[in-house]
Amino acid sequence: MDDQLIKGNKSIEAMSRQLTLVLVSLLCVALAADAAVVERIFHVPIILLFLIVKNLTISRLCERRVITAVNGSLPGPTLKVSEGDTVVIHVINDSPYNITIHWHGIFQKRSAWADGPNMITQCPIVPGNKYVYKFNVTEQEGTLWWHAHASSLRATVYGALVIRPRNASYPFPKPYREVPILLGEWWNANVVDVETQAFLSGGSLSNVSDAFTINGRPGHLYKCSKNHAYELEVVAGETYLLRIINSAVNNQLFFKIASHSFTVVAVDASYTKPYDTDVVVIAPGQTVDALMTADAPPSSYYMAARAYASAGLDGPPFDNTTTTAIVRYANSSNRPLRPSMPSMPAFDDTRTAHRFYTNLTGLLRPETPAVPLHVDERMFVAFGLGVSPCEPSQVMCNRSRGAITASMNNVSFQFPASISLLEAHYNGLDDGAVYTSDFPDNPPVMFDFTDAKLNTDPTLTALLYTEKGTRVKKVKYGATVEVVLQNTAMIGAENHPLHLHGFNFFVLAQGFGNYNNATAARDSYNLVDPQVRNTIAVPLRGWAVIRFVANNPGVWIMHCHLEQHLPLGLAMAFEVEDGTTPESVLPPPPSDFPTC
Ligand code: C2O
Repeated sequence: MDDQLIKGNKSIEAMSRQLTLVLVSLLCVALAADAAVVERIFHVPIILLFLIVKNLTISRLCERRVITAVNGSLPGPTLKVSEGDTVVIHVINDSPYNITIHWHGIFQKRSAWADGPNMITQCPIVPGNKYVYKFNVTEQEGTLWWHAHASSLRATVYGALVIRPRNASYPFPKPYREVPILLGEWWNANVVDVETQAFLSGGSLSNVSDAFTINGRPGHLYKCSKNHAYELEVVAGETYLLRIINSAVNNQLFFKIASHSFTVVAVDASYTKPYDTDVVVIAPGQTVDALMTADAPPSSYYMAARAYASAGLDGPPFDNTTTTAIVRYANSSNRPLRPSMPSMPAFDDTRTAHRFYTNLTGLLRPETPAVPLHVDERMFVAFGLGVSPCEPSQVMCNRSRGAITASMNNVSFQFPASISLLEAHYNGLDDGAVYTSDFPDNPPVMFDFTDAKLNTDPTLTALLYTEKGTRVKKVKYGATVEVVLQNTAMIGAENHPLHLHGFNFFVLAQGFGNYNNATAARDSYNLVDPQVRNTIAVPLRGWAVIRFVANNPGVWIMHCHLEQHLPLGLAMAFEVEDGTTPESVLPPPPSDFPTC
């Protein structure tokens, strides 16, 4: 009996030891779930099993085309992470092009080397080479995305980057399902060739796309596309979180679903106060998280996107086609031959765009950073298109008119050729050989920026001429920077989406006309609950005021996310100095960092 007792005791001991083990390993799993390492391989393009390097060949709009795409899919793989995770992506470049990948909207705190813009934070990954992008995703959650940041390869090299809250708690009722909706743009041509042609012509050739896409597919309204529509099956009564991303190249978009409406809960991976709307307006680079309840009579409905062409119908040509996908109710016996179509806003419906863009406000939570009230650096940046003498290599350029360029404070940004800005900054090469730290705080002259006469009045046309340069704005670590972004009517007036790398910013105010420091503008600043973004669509013939804290050492480009304006020079960069604590110092580049 004693024996038995001892045995019994022993087995209880063993059991409890086992239980402890189980508990410890459960705890480990829980901790790992707390901050996991998400490691992936991105092949650009895929290598097939028999080791023949192959591009992805796909059929679109009656043509078979070879495209550059990650892991053989369009869009590329969705990266799903939780806030706090570490992301490690091995990018293997087996394409014939120089490539980099940018993690759009990721802060890259102390990992500026992984940001990705070509010649800004790195030299490109040349064909046959690889680079490991490694970064932490901290203090941000929501929808972001990744895309190529070299030439116009992002037309096909892009995908979603979804950051879930660490404890899975959303500031809204948990949706039934989450669905990335990537809006894209498609050319029946090699996009790199299209870009080269536009450059050689000095901007006289416009590169209008052939289609827009939803999750890589154009939809029923295009030729040969009967089977090329994305379908979302929904359960009646359930609520879906649509993670909408404008990954199109040169166009802002209106997005609607017939008979359904949305509640916007986040933009650019920042929560907003719930905002009800039946139309989403979204510029390239931006994201919108929208709840959609399947509350229409069970049937099939089109979701659709088409251009918001802010320059208007008399402006430069644009892709005026409409992409569609299908929202199909599960188990619905009602299967119409043609799903009903939402009525889309007019292409030049600036009123609808402005209402959407300006009605959003930030959601205040205990962890939401407050708007800093003290400003250390004030800038007034006038930006838009302009002209420069044709380069000798621009063989198709109109020499008497000159080449179309673009500028910020009249500096037409030139990418360095032999070393990235970040590397030059890290090595202290700011003596002008690569760049100068003298980006102007103001335009060289003040004038009526929004006056169309700029383009015709011979006494004003001198203002159109831009100067090329690689000039950056140097700011101290931790400085609060306020920038008035003044859109000009030079060459043509249009809404430009400006994207800042490395930071989110508060959008304090927006308006039409010339920003006027002396009058109401400052009184209208929202310092309480402004929307927080990484990409701001600045109204045409208008302005926006942004404010951010430069708490991230490195070199960060701010540029127009209409891809065709980047090589024209619609960019500048912030050089954020090191701080004094170990956490505020830019670490050295990783060992596999690509150099030129
Ligand atoms: Cu989404 Cu500099 O880019």
